[in-house]
Amino acid sequence: MVRRAFELLTFLRQSIRDFYHTGAVLPSSKSLAAEMVSEIPAGCGPVNILEVGAGTGVFSRAIIERVGRGEIDLCEINPRFASLLRKRLEKDPSFKKPGVTVRVYELDARLLETGRKYDHIVSGLPMNGFDAVAVREFFDLFARLLKPGGTLSYFEYIGVRAVKMPFSGKSERRRLRRVGAVVRRMQRRYQYKCRKVLSNFPPAYARHLRFDGGPEASPARGSTERDPA
Ligand SMILES: C[S@@+](CC[C@H](N)C(=O)[O-])C[C@H]1O[C@@H](n2cnc3c(N)ncnc32)[C@H](O)[C@@H]1O
Repeated sequence: MVRRAFELLTFLRQSIRDFYHTGAVLPSSKSLAAEMVSEIPAGCGPVNILEVGAGTGVFSRAIIERVGRGEIDLCEINPRFASLLRKRLEKDPSFKKPGVTVRVYELDARLLETGRKYDHIVSGLPMNGFDAVAVREFFDLFARLLKPGGTLSYFEYIGVRAVKMPFSGKSERRRLRRVGAVVRRMQRRYQYKCRKVLSNFPPAYARHLRFDGGPEASPARGSTERDPA
């Protein structure tokens, strides 16, 4: 309870300080975290997992709980969040598990060089706040870092682009349209599952992609929802 309140407050502060990177006012809910780690087989290992945009560690905790054995790299650009995550590693029992090594990388994910390829990537990045070039760079990075057959899970708030559009100026509308075009292309080619999570603020789509063995062949196969924006 105290930990949750502390995390909420920390997140809110960072959101006010740097909304561009934070992209949300509250950390994700446990329900969204459960959906975001659902492609990682429970108890699996040895496995390599990368989480990008770990924030206060809501998804990190769920990842650690889910895996049996392996290495988990957490990447976070915000020094305050990165320091919180490092403290969690030292002191929080839910961040410790025998056979599981967790590391924190404090940098822009595009500069990440761990020398590892990953079975699963979980991204909390606020894609809809970035420009289209950056969004493409992140998807390229994920495709490059995944092992063959590896999965990318990321989320976006439902209808976020459509909701913002009428309240935005010309250049912001252009940015939103371009980002929409990039993410829709990714979804058409590589998304094999999408789940709506209503018990999150705001409600979100958890999207699961595979960059090989599923793309193009059957677009959006298994998707339960599609975002028109
Ligand atoms: C929407 S928050 C998600 C935080 C957490 N995963 C959650 O769901 O509560 C986005 C996170 O991505 C981080 N972030 C933004 N740009 C980043 C980048 N280029 N590299 C690494 N982390 C980044 C932010 O600092 C923030 O912690």
